[in-house]
Amino acid sequence: MHAVAEAQPNIALVKYWGKRDIGENLPAVGSLSLTLDSLWTRMQVDFGGGGRRDELEVNGKPAAAMQVRVSRCLDRVAGVDRPRARVVSESNFPIGAGLASSASAFAALVVAAAHAAGKEPDQLALAKLAGQASGSAARSLYGGIVELKAGESDIDVYSLLDAAAWPLTVIVAVNSEIAKPVASGEAMIRGAATSPFYASWVARQEADLAAARRAVAARDFAGLAGVAEHNCLKMHSLMWTSRPPIVYWNPVTIACLEAIRELQAAGAPVFFTMDAGPQVKAVCPADAADEVRTTLAAVPGVKRTMESGLGAGARLVDQT
Ligand code: PMV
Repeated sequence: MHAVAEAQPNIALVKYWGKRDIGENLPAVGSLSLTLDSLWTRMQVDFGGGGRRDELEVNGKPAAAMQVRVSRCLDRVAGVDRPRARVVSESNFPIGAGLASSASAFAALVVAAAHAAGKEPDQLALAKLAGQASGSAARSLYGGIVELKAGESDIDVYSLLDAAAWPLTVIVAVNSEIAKPVASGEAMIRGAATSPFYASWVARQEADLAAARRAVAARDFAGLAGVAEHNCLKMHSLMWTSRPPIVYWNPVTIACLEAIRELQAAGAPVFFTMDAGPQVKAVCPADAADEVRTTLAAVPGVKRTMESGLGAGARLVDQT
């Protein structure tokens, strides 16, 4: 009746943006991501404490805003006739600020809830359950470089490359820890309904995925850099051309992009990506990480940097 699981966030290089089915939360496009190792969310789920309602605590405080999504996810994992649950979540990085906290949270939640309910679904079944709560969470069930394939009525998720097979580092330049103005789910729906770029975004995603897969297979850093930056800027163009527009960037975001362009011009192997928030994430081979971190940390407005290699997928850490 009690289980604890841990999961790491993931950073998409070919992005998920757009839903094929809003009710089932099915993505309109496939995506490809890096699972991190040093950032984590730990979820504890207890069923059967006798409470009349589910209770959720996030980083030591009651979290009413997230409660509904968590309860719905628990219903899918453990059934609607399950006992009420007490859920305690703890993360070592800011939540709701474009750092993929919902990915690690729901990946850890499905693993903990399934074990606490005495179920043993396989990893893909858990990934699908996590994906119904947050599309990107499906990818955090797996480690290393992960691809999520979006089919007509379902998803498939698998690890393309083990974490150890290509030592890449992700450096996050944190410039704001304020929760994002528009949630990603709402922003995706708005983009699909209003951006003139949405149809071509969906139509071209397969080509970007194929290019990224080829680059991963060949450990072609420049190839991966090219497709990742292009895909990220297309996603943000779609956000900017939504009505009303959605702009997650701030002036420090642009300053970080310029700093990365200067590193690239000087020959450093590094590329950027950004999600539904103002933070810039730089990806580089592990041996270039010191230079990239020092450069980003010196950009005025960057509050701090976080650094992570690639890690494993979500896992159970305790069960009683
Ligand atoms: O999983 P969600 O609903 O939080 O959406 C994630 C969207 C992006 O982070 C911007 C892109 C991605 O593929 O992770």
